[in-house]
Amino acid sequence: MRVVRTVEQLREAVGFMRRTGQGPVGLVPTMGYLHEGHASLLRRAGEMCGTVVMSIFVNPIQFGPNEDYEAYPRDEQRDLELAEREGADIVFIPSVDVMYPRPTRTKIAVSSLTTRLCGASRPGHFDGVTTVVAKLFNLVQPEYAFFGLKDAQQVAVLRQMVEDLNMNVEIIPCPIVRERDGLALSSRNVYLSAEERRQALVLSRSLQEARKAVEEGRAETAGEVRELLTSVISGSPLADIDYAEILTFPGLEPLEGGLPLTGAEGEIIMALAVRFGRTRLIDNIIFTPK
Ligand code: PAJ
Repeated sequence: MRVVRTVEQLREAVGFMRRTGQGPVGLVPTMGYLHEGHASLLRRAGEMCGTVVMSIFVNPIQFGPNEDYEAYPRDEQRDLELAEREGADIVFIPSVDVMYPRPTRTKIAVSSLTTRLCGASRPGHFDGVTTVVAKLFNLVQPEYAFFGLKDAQQVAVLRQMVEDLNMNVEIIPCPIVRERDGLALSSRNVYLSAEERRQALVLSRSLQEARKAVEEGRAETAGEVRELLTSVISGSPLADIDYAEILTFPGLEPLEGGLPLTGAEGEIIMALAVRFGRTRLIDNIIFTPK
């Protein structure tokens, strides 16, 4: 495994793998503090690609002024051990100066999809994500790029970017990895106190219950499902709901409040963002109501 920290080293390392017939190249972008969710992306990339490139970069431009950029957990040594163990061939760890050597005057902004869900409470967040991911795509020029459905809106937004701008890369969405008790893995879970961690189970539990209610015909409309989600979540006194929404996926269009979900075309997403103290957690499920 090669660790590279500059644009020149990265291009040279990827170029060498291509020249020696070790394609296709897969990219796994991350912000580090790696866990089993990131590991699952590396393994999927390993199955499909001759060369797996992982980036580790806490991207300042996707954090709002009052968010946790400074406090975001970092542990490079542990990350490198995990990357090596899970088969990364090249790990790119740029500094902020390497990624943004001068004031940036160009950004990529996907409209509409970015105004809903996390885009509503984190203005500018997705512009930061699409801009950094576009830069990584240009640097690595991967055939495939791997993203987790834990951040389902991120997947929808990046797919739109790739289609709209004819980027020559295929986005591969990967399933959410959870703890045994259902909590979706997240680098931010380390912020939770023991009691918050216990109550955070309400995210996955409410989603499961809501799905079951739809499948058993006990909740028919988006409005009924939202009510069910919020009433289950409100049972956890430490939970402060940012949003609980039911939308089409990947279009992220609202579903008509009064119409049965089973009439919706294609997949729907039930998506949650809930604060526990200063920690904001997200979770979702995507399925076709029957
Ligand atoms: P980060 O939060 O580090 O996540 C990196 C990738 O891991 C994302 O594609 C995310 O969806 C995936 N991931 C995180 N937790 C997961 C889980 N429990 N199961 C499956 N996949 C999971 O997302 C980002 O970084 C950044 O926005 C980035 C795309 C790197 C741009 O800066």
